[in-house]
Amino acid sequence: MRAVAATAVGGPEVLRVVERPDPVAGPGKVLVRVRAVSVNPADLGARRGLVPGGPVPPPFVLGWDFAGEVVTVGDGVTDLRPGTRVAGMVPWYLTRGDSGAYAELVSAERDWVVPIPDDLDLAAAATVALNASTARQALELIAAEPGTPLLVTGASGGVGGFAVQLAAQAGLRVIAGAGRDDEEWVRGLGAAEVLPRTADLATVGPVPAVLDAVPVGTPAAAVADGGTLVTTRPTPSVDPARRVRQHVVMVRLDPSMLAGLMAAVAEGRLRTRVAVTLPLAEAADAHRLVEAGGLRGKVVLVP
Ligand SMILES: NC(=O)c1ccc[n+]([C@@H]2O[C@H](COP(=O)([O-])OP(=O)(O)OC[C@H]3O[C@@H](n4cnc5c(N)ncnc54)[C@H](OP(=O)(O)O)[C@@H]3O)[C@@H](O)[C@H]2O)c1
Repeated sequence: MRAVAATAVGGPEVLRVVERPDPVAGPGKVLVRVRAVSVNPADLGARRGLVPGGPVPPPFVLGWDFAGEVVTVGDGVTDLRPGTRVAGMVPWYLTRGDSGAYAELVSAERDWVVPIPDDLDLAAAATVALNASTARQALELIAAEPGTPLLVTGASGGVGGFAVQLAAQAGLRVIAGAGRDDEEWVRGLGAAEVLPRTADLATVGPVPAVLDAVPVGTPAAAVADGGTLVTTRPTPSVDPARRVRQHVVMVRLDPSMLAGLMAAVAEGRLRTRVAVTLPLAEAADAHRLVEAGGLRGKVVLVP
């Protein structure tokens, strides 16, 4: 099969098309023909050598989020069959490049994927697992009551966009930080208030809960004393005297959560955006596009 591997740690130019042996579906696994794989900041970080637990030695195949069709199932998999459309994620921080979704085929643990309806676009489906799961799990850490004000930074991005929707649907009053040109989209997701991305967070609030989906400043300055701050990356500790509950969300696979999130996308209760699709062989250009910023939605690669 063809895959895209990082042949060295470095810039987008290290991404090359490589030939790899076709993987097989071992016991408890499914072999998926990948039809769409989205490009996430975690992929760019891994390419640059920034992986929790230390850099992964190249060459390695990148990619978390994918959608496609089951080709074969391994022993013990009874609820999926060849031809079933599925979407899900490679838990790349665990596989550390042994398995990645920038490929024509992925051998996935059964629990990495969920079946998806026939009418759900595969490119859209490939943007859901990592970011919607992270958003849901961040909100679980925040555990705020309906009516609570919640500031979400990076609200026009993958994690932030799902977080705005899930929080608003749970009855929170969402204050969203996003680009001005994205205000309409973010309001449409359920934000009660939209701040420009340049807003000084020290002048916001204080609010009882902050989800810093994209580290853009000093989120701790916006949290009320005794409030909750959840970030998607490690962040400096808040002065303990302020009694701020502080967590870094670290996404974990939760198949039943993923099934619920995917169903919500399929039924139109959760929205996601694809900015552009590119052939898998153009992964280096895809990384350049994401690095340049300003996209409205995910870049999706098509093998
Ligand atoms: N810990 C975990 O388990 C976990 C899981 C998933 C993601 N993450 C992390 O979460 C972060 C967000 O991921 P994502 O997939 O949501 O990213 P994304 O889809 O690329 O979205 C990032 C958003 O933030 C905006 N942004 C970037 N710089 C900004 C700034 N200075 N001020 C305001 N907005 C800014 C971007 O807008 P522009 O393009 O216009 O700049 C974009 O809309 C990444 O750091 C990712 O690594 C962590």
